[in-house]
Amino acid sequence: MIPIGVISTKGGVGKTTLTANMGGLLADMGFRVLLIDCDIQPSLSKHFSLRYRAKDGLTRFVTEHAISSETISSTAIEGLDIVLSDSPGGQLAQWLQNRADALFRLKTGLKHPYLDEHYDFVLMDTQGARGPVHSLQNAVILGAKLLVSPVRPAVSSAREFLSGMLEKLDELRALSEHMMLTLPTVQTLIYDMERTNDARSMAEEIRGQFIKTGAQVSVLETIIPHSVAYNEAATRSIPVHRHEIVRRGSTPSAYEAMHSLVWEFLPATQGVRAGTGERPTESGEPTDSSSEASTQKTSEASA
Ligand SMILES: Nc1ncnc2c1ncn2[C@@H]1O[C@H](COP(=O)(O)OP(=O)(O)OP(=O)(O)O)[C@@H](O)[C@H]1O
Ligand SMILES: [Mg+2]
Repeated sequence: MIPIGVISTKGGVGKTTLTANMGGLLADMGFRVLLIDCDIQPSLSKHFSLRYRAKDGLTRFVTEHAISSETISSTAIEGLDIVLSDSPGGQLAQWLQNRADALFRLKTGLKHPYLDEHYDFVLMDTQGARGPVHSLQNAVILGAKLLVSPVRPAVSSAREFLSGMLEKLDELRALSEHMMLTLPTVQTLIYDMERTNDARSMAEEIRGQFIKTGAQVSVLETIIPHSVAYNEAATRSIPVHRHEIVRRGSTPSAYEAMHSLVWEFLPATQGVRAGTGERPTESGEPTDSSSEASTQKTSEASA
């Protein structure tokens, strides 16, 4: 099981949409996925409809390490479960803040054998804003093995992202060194990119800046474009790769963009397509690279 955190020090950049769509795609690829909504505003918890609602959620998951059908709900998507956010007043973040083991709390919980037995990937959504709620975000950062951070290539977003993210990483690096922990590498994702020259030059600037900062942060090659498909899919409560399979013009469809992202971010998934449920062969070659066949299957899945 690989724990993944979706983080940003800025709000409204697409974290929840990204978490939901990566989770939905991985589940449709045939992987077993658990989403954890670590944002006190429960947007991820509402993204998909539920087949089974557990009586509890994140609070007991974090405070008691209660990891079972009492805290894990099932979404309507086969293979996609979720721990629902259940602390809108921020009591959980406050509780965590007062604990000596705050930073390790999720890391320890994620080592529970139930998770290894039942899931291939755990995806954790976080709250963007800095402030009193950051205890949960920090716990996700230190609990995750991989981190992905979406950034919009617009001047204000990118500048704030660069300074905010680097500051946060510095702060956590100091803490983790003190506690002899290794910080996961952050992979930045240029996200929600408009087809303008401004956006393209900003994307280049982001790449350039991060290359200068060294190995701690890298920038993914895949870019997720700005498209109404992401909003439309959220309205339909389905993962976006089911909603927009093909698209005219040079912008990749959501089906293509999300596959490209997941394959790059999680190389072990390379060649696996949603709808086929087949795993890559040992050589890593795709077992079914016929887009026609997989598109057909995906259309059926979304019908
Ligand atoms: N690729 C995209 N193209 C266009 N719109 C998008 C895209 N991805 C997400 N959006 C829209 O952007 C808005 C913000 O997205 P989202 O809620 O995922 O951000 P967030 O980072 O989770 O926000 P918060 O910090 O409030 O939790 C939503 O309306 C969503 O539908
Ligand atoms: Mg969100």
